[in-house]
Amino acid sequence: MPTEPFQSNPLRDGLNLRSIPDPCSLIIFGASGDLTHRKLVPALYNLAADGALPQAISVVGFARRDKTSEVFRKELGEAVRKFSRQAVNDELWENFSNSITYHRSEFDNPEGYVSLARHLEELDAARGTRGNRLFYLAVAPDQFEVILENLRKSGLNTAAPGSWARVIVEKPFGTDLPSARRLNDLVESAFDESQTYRIDHYLGKETAQNIMVMRFANAIFEAMWNSRYIDHVQITASEPLGVEGRAGYYDKSGALRDMVQNHLLQLLCLTAMEPPAGLDADSIRDEKVKVLRSLRPLAGDEVFRHVVRAQYGAGAVNGKRVAAYRDELNVNPESNTETFVALEVNVDNWRWAGVPFFIRVGKRLPKGGTEIAVQFKSVPPVLFRATGETVDDNVLVIRIQPDEGISLRMCAKMPGSSLRIEPVKMDFHYGTSFGKATPEAYERLLLDAMSGDATLFARRDEVEEAWKFIDLIHEAWRTRSNDLAIYSAGSWGPSEADELIKRHEATWRRL
Ligand code: BG6
Repeated sequence: MPTEPFQSNPLRDGLNLRSIPDPCSLIIFGASGDLTHRKLVPALYNLAADGALPQAISVVGFARRDKTSEVFRKELGEAVRKFSRQAVNDELWENFSNSITYHRSEFDNPEGYVSLARHLEELDAARGTRGNRLFYLAVAPDQFEVILENLRKSGLNTAAPGSWARVIVEKPFGTDLPSARRLNDLVESAFDESQTYRIDHYLGKETAQNIMVMRFANAIFEAMWNSRYIDHVQITASEPLGVEGRAGYYDKSGALRDMVQNHLLQLLCLTAMEPPAGLDADSIRDEKVKVLRSLRPLAGDEVFRHVVRAQYGAGAVNGKRVAAYRDELNVNPESNTETFVALEVNVDNWRWAGVPFFIRVGKRLPKGGTEIAVQFKSVPPVLFRATGETVDDNVLVIRIQPDEGISLRMCAKMPGSSLRIEPVKMDFHYGTSFGKATPEAYERLLLDAMSGDATLFARRDEVEEAWKFIDLIHEAWRTRSNDLAIYSAGSWGPSEADELIKRHEATWRRL
């Protein structure tokens, strides 16, 4: 098994920023695809614009379609103009795009990998990329096997002494535990864990990274971060969009696999984990795995009491009529795939015993937004009772997106001669406090993979533990189908989700 040479780079330890990564080649499999155009190349351009890329870099698009490097660069130029976070400077783009080449090959043709190796050597000589290779699998999972096998056979998975080879694997990382294990074994047959970077783009979001800083750099929060003071936690990811041409994938996946197994369980881990022993990747990931291992399994009838699944019917979102999920292009008209799921999760450990985590995610909801709301317990109902005033509970809201920031709801006395109590908000906005735009998740993640920092990537055991929890829910769902509720597009989901949280004498927050 090839192992990575030790890179002494103290500035890039764990979450620390920022030194310029080593010169390297980034090879994107699936270079004609949507991800490359919408996310990867715009992220690279923005890194280039911020001066964050290595001095020597080459980007090689590997795909099946026949085209020249010039045509490829032109297509990417159009995509960057459309999707870049910052306005595109033509000269800078021209400059950066000189580093891009196109390598045409079928994924299963060994010759294509031999010629890729030659091409990379030429680039090393011409551009000074020093034999460092970062392979990005931006392809459908059914292509992983053939690509990994060919990378291994061609020796591209092993780096020359003093250089490195790494692989970035995109989600979905399996569809259940057995398939995730197979996939992990497959990746491991070519790259060991220290070379493997499993993308969960939520971990690259600035506010997700801030959860740890907020919790562990502020004494006031951490002291109260437990079952003594916290009543429950709500984690919501709401999208007005529907399946947007991805029905082929989504109809087989559903919201639980698409969002909960990865992104939302990751947010839960960051919220619930113990302070790590250090900021290095493994110390942080060790703590996240402990949370996943502490999740109370939901199985059999428990699933129907603690999990609500639903699908959108026709309705209106932002004043626009939209079709029912079953009428979307390429969706099975009898599909039982959930586009919404709400669940109550319990973390059975010392800190969180008795504090439910409510997770809610859905498509075609009225508003887009992701947040973690920590709902504190009520004060004893004695002192202000006689005044007849309502004392609202404290809520700390971590807004992952949009309008990234943190707000704290607390009670204050209204000015005046009588005692009137009103809830007020202390609000921190990233945008105004730091006065600079938040980088896109893919910018951070690409840079970290180039720098050999795996902190914001999922480790094998994290992925597998998360599937263990999710698989039991699917197992129960397979025994019934009459529990699938239908909600109108543009509503906040089915009434069953409201009932779920009402049992805890709580209501969902309106975003
Ligand atoms: C992806 C899911 O991983 O995350 C999509 O496959 C979802 O269905 C997307 O829309 C949400 O990401 P973001 O960054 O827009 O919240």
